[in-house]
Amino acid sequence: MAITVLQEERIFKIDTESSSYVLGVLGNNVLVHLYYGGRVEDAHLAHLAPQRGRASFWSIQADAEDDFSADVMPLEYSGAGSADLRAPALAAQSETGDNVTDLRYDSCEVLPGKPDLPGLPHVYLNPGDEGETLRITLRDAVKNLYVDLYYATFAFSDAICRWAVVRNEGVQAQTLTRAMSASLSFPGMDYDLIHLHGAWAREFHMERSPIPHGEMAISSFRGASSHLHNPFAALVSKDATETQGEVYGVSLVYSGNFRIETEVDAFDALRLNCGINDRGFAWRLAPGERFCTPEAVLVYSGEGLTRMSQTYHNLYRRNLARGKYRDQPRPVLLNSWEGVYMDFDAKKLLEMAKSAASLGIEMFVLDDGWFGARSNDRCALGDWVVNEKKLGCTLHDLVEQIKALGLSFGLWFEPEMISPDSDLYRAHPDWALCPSGRAPSLGRHQLILDMTRRDVQDYVVEAVSAVLRSADIAYVKWDMNRNMAEVGSPSLPADRQGEVFHRYILGVYSVMERITSAFPNVLFESCSGGGGRFDAGLLYYMPQNWTSDDSDAIERLTIQHGCSLVYPPSAMTCHVSAVPNHQVGRVTPLKTRGAVAMLGSFGYELDMSRMTPEDCVRVRTQIIEYKCSRQLVAQGDFYRLLSPLEGNDAAFLQVSRDKSLAILTYVQKLAEPNPAVRRVRLRGLAPLIRYYCEQDRRIYDGATLMNAGYVLPEMHGDFDSVRLVFRCV
Ligand code: GLA
Repeated sequence: MAITVLQEERIFKIDTESSSYVLGVLGNNVLVHLYYGGRVEDAHLAHLAPQRGRASFWSIQADAEDDFSADVMPLEYSGAGSADLRAPALAAQSETGDNVTDLRYDSCEVLPGKPDLPGLPHVYLNPGDEGETLRITLRDAVKNLYVDLYYATFAFSDAICRWAVVRNEGVQAQTLTRAMSASLSFPGMDYDLIHLHGAWAREFHMERSPIPHGEMAISSFRGASSHLHNPFAALVSKDATETQGEVYGVSLVYSGNFRIETEVDAFDALRLNCGINDRGFAWRLAPGERFCTPEAVLVYSGEGLTRMSQTYHNLYRRNLARGKYRDQPRPVLLNSWEGVYMDFDAKKLLEMAKSAASLGIEMFVLDDGWFGARSNDRCALGDWVVNEKKLGCTLHDLVEQIKALGLSFGLWFEPEMISPDSDLYRAHPDWALCPSGRAPSLGRHQLILDMTRRDVQDYVVEAVSAVLRSADIAYVKWDMNRNMAEVGSPSLPADRQGEVFHRYILGVYSVMERITSAFPNVLFESCSGGGGRFDAGLLYYMPQNWTSDDSDAIERLTIQHGCSLVYPPSAMTCHVSAVPNHQVGRVTPLKTRGAVAMLGSFGYELDMSRMTPEDCVRVRTQIIEYKCSRQLVAQGDFYRLLSPLEGNDAAFLQVSRDKSLAILTYVQKLAEPNPAVRRVRLRGLAPLIRYYCEQDRRIYDGATLMNAGYVLPEMHGDFDSVRLVFRCV
């Protein structure tokens, strides 16, 4: 890790262990990108951005030499309205209507460590972690608008964190209509873009497509990062695979509307911008105010996708997630939702908990339906008062009885929502997000609380905290179940309505910060109808996320495969549910449902009190197997061996950091007649270590398993699987 500043040549070089990022300032003070890729030692790379004469039509700025056009240069952070006509990083309009921003180099500083991003989730340093941050300041001289570009680098990670702070030192207010976290330049377009798209119940489907000339974007305009696109993308060389090729990952530490866009210009040069979606965004920056963008985490890998993913996994679980459970294996839980939905009383819950305890489950989670008059999803969100009539006892009594069975207790909330049919709405109709005089759309029969308001934030903090104080609650599932529409807040003036989307997320972050720090022993899990807000931003507050409402083992292969591109397995919660599966109607063996769910933070979601004695025996064994190896989920290295998108099977491998333990999970989708012998090559083992396979009771050396591969046993029937444990001897 190093930051090198060549003052005279005005060159800045940021090195990680295996990548370099180089910038330079041109004679006219324009900051240009020179290089990002595999580590180079030489910083003198100005020759990589030659200023060439171009044909007519390109605009030449007033102070530029004849042959210089910003429009054909790799600008590091481009202002809108000036001579660079490509998608800008920043757009600002002053009160007099000046919508030009021409950013020129002003100064630079190298800071020890990594500054915090106020009010925003961010990568942090642990005691003893080494890091350094480069701050380059740009300025628009007419507006006196400053942009501080930050680049943090670490001794323990190949990632570079980038963000920008816009400061208005002028006399007029500026309205920012775009403020990207980062802009990246590439000299060619010979890349594919990998991203994760989906919908409710089928999140994280990986898609790879060539990058066209012109613009292409993935984004969210739904108020949350959304099921449709995840705030992550990777630019990969055409030959990139899991194990080879160049990969540039971009992951936003943000949970609201985002945009990751590429633009390829007339000379095949590529720009990638990422940050808050500019659609619906207009932030008024009064003189003296500053605006901080969310953080973008960049990872370069010269060795394919696995290396990129592991860099994200290690960084996010050690330097982004926080709290007591950050590095700890998570309890094996039983969630009540698919078992009984909202149809329960304390007697039924205790019956489920009793069966769960007898099988080795460690925590019982009561999902939706325990508060207010909530007997269906049409009412009561906001009324966070225990429905003792429905339960037949107090929450405290229920929790104590569950604890007496040897289980800890968890509870579901959806704190950001309000049902029109709720006491809260009857008391505070103005607390629902919507411009005055309009009727807001409903989503799942519910409205959204105006989280931009301090009084609403205080209500949510107090309502959730009061329940958490009332009983010994060890876990919270924090849900959020609709997209936003009619996004306006009567509590803000007209010229600040463009701030509502972002202020909503800042409000959510603030509330989460207050609650999670007040209850440091509680394990928090975020959820948005599954993976509708599964992003690096929320991981800062909650170390795990309900990955998808679809727990069908076969669909989960694709979902978890895609999710693992950027998010660590410990963050992915995975449950075994009943068959036929409630989302797709598929019947898969319990063995396979268990094997797939054990790839992440593990649990069950069915009525355990109604399982057959044979299934009870299988579940008991599954739980023992998981407990023996869950350290791998918390801290091990994750490998995608066979992609479920490419064939009839999928394989994943988890290897402990010291390489003494490895678990191979292989799943066949459909049974094949007269199949070929299937061999799968393991990765990440120590070549000279000898491994004992607990299932076939044979010993193999690491090199053989990696080079020759492991011959899989014969599969029987659709959706069959094996989970093989290799321990060093
Ligand atoms: C969402 C969640 C589910 C469940 C329900 C309860 O859909 O994703 O897991 O909690 O809400 O209403």
